[in-house]
Amino acid sequence: MPERDPTRVELIVVGGGPIGLAAATAAARRGKSVLVLEQYDVLHERGSSGGAERQWRLQYAQEDLARLTVEVEPMWRELEEAAGRRLVHRTGSLWFGDTTTSTNEGQVKAAVEVLDRIGLRYEWLAAREIEDRYRFAGLPGHYEGFFQPDGGMVDVRGTLWALLDQARAAGVTVRDRERVMELDPDGEGVTVRGEHGSAYRAEHVVVTTGPYANPLLDALGVKLDVELYEMTTAYFRTVDPDFDYPTWFAFQQPTEEDTNLFYGFGRLPWATGDLVRVAPDFEVNAFHDPYRAGHTADQTHLRRTADWVAAHLPALDPTPVRPGSCLIALPGDPDRQFYLGHAPGEDRIVVHSAGWGFKYIPLFGRACVDLALDGTTPFDLSRFAFT
Ligand code: BEZ
Repeated sequence: MPERDPTRVELIVVGGGPIGLAAATAAARRGKSVLVLEQYDVLHERGSSGGAERQWRLQYAQEDLARLTVEVEPMWRELEEAAGRRLVHRTGSLWFGDTTTSTNEGQVKAAVEVLDRIGLRYEWLAAREIEDRYRFAGLPGHYEGFFQPDGGMVDVRGTLWALLDQARAAGVTVRDRERVMELDPDGEGVTVRGEHGSAYRAEHVVVTTGPYANPLLDALGVKLDVELYEMTTAYFRTVDPDFDYPTWFAFQQPTEEDTNLFYGFGRLPWATGDLVRVAPDFEVNAFHDPYRAGHTADQTHLRRTADWVAAHLPALDPTPVRPGSCLIALPGDPDRQFYLGHAPGEDRIVVHSAGWGFKYIPLFGRACVDLALDGTTPFDLSRFAFT
């Protein structure tokens, strides 16, 4: 039998991050030959968001997004079974603050209405209850919120390894350090050109380059309304070995300088150590060139976070440890939350980009492949389509 030309496949996935790997596996399991092209090393830290943990939550201010978290749950179970380890840890999710403050992440009041409509459980809490039960302090008296016990955190490294293992087991070829510069679609397929003169050919292409989507799509005349942020993150030492925080998000009125939003986690259930992450969700100083990111913590944002910890988190030592930053890509229109759909005018190219999407990885991967191969998907992704 003649050897297969490795540069000619049925599906190319551009971007070997978690959603790209999930998409590659989904396509390979449908019997397709699949090549993943990744500009850095697979498992690099220069994609969207960062850190060892990500928020797992069911609550959303938009009902379709909350329903997607219910639909993605069995897919996580399947990934966990394949990995032989737990990836989603249900340490609970606590949302509180000014209940009518609307942010890119949602709104407490609207999210509770959606939880009610879908019939998902939660406990409503006043400021004093949040302080007593979850060791917060100094919260304004009008703050309220809820604890949703099925929320928690996702093990990022465990997930990435599981996705890579799955992709390899399904027969996917992964080529790293191959930056794609150009997508050239025609009637029969797409030619994909790499940085160093390489060329690949596929019937369909799925682009999952996260914050790096616009530089690639530029030549197709496609421009996503995506803003990039470098968000500072830090870890803080717990002072009480017998207490742990749930995953939490504080919704507050913006200050003149920043969005005044903070979020955090408890200790990592899959690791040892007494550090927990607390980070500001400051959507300030937006920029557009992802290759410009410096990947360093902003000292003012770090100080703001340490001050917030000192004022409101008595179970933590307010000295930041291991400060860093991560690149975040968010749609300019917060209501859209993500881009996922065919690139405008291109029925052979499907794109996913932007948003806080870690929780949706297996579902978004599958949906990209449904759209690429079938032109349609059973999931309600109408909110994310290109307009
Ligand atoms: C999210 O789960 O969507 C999220 C987590 C942390 C910060 C912002 C958003």
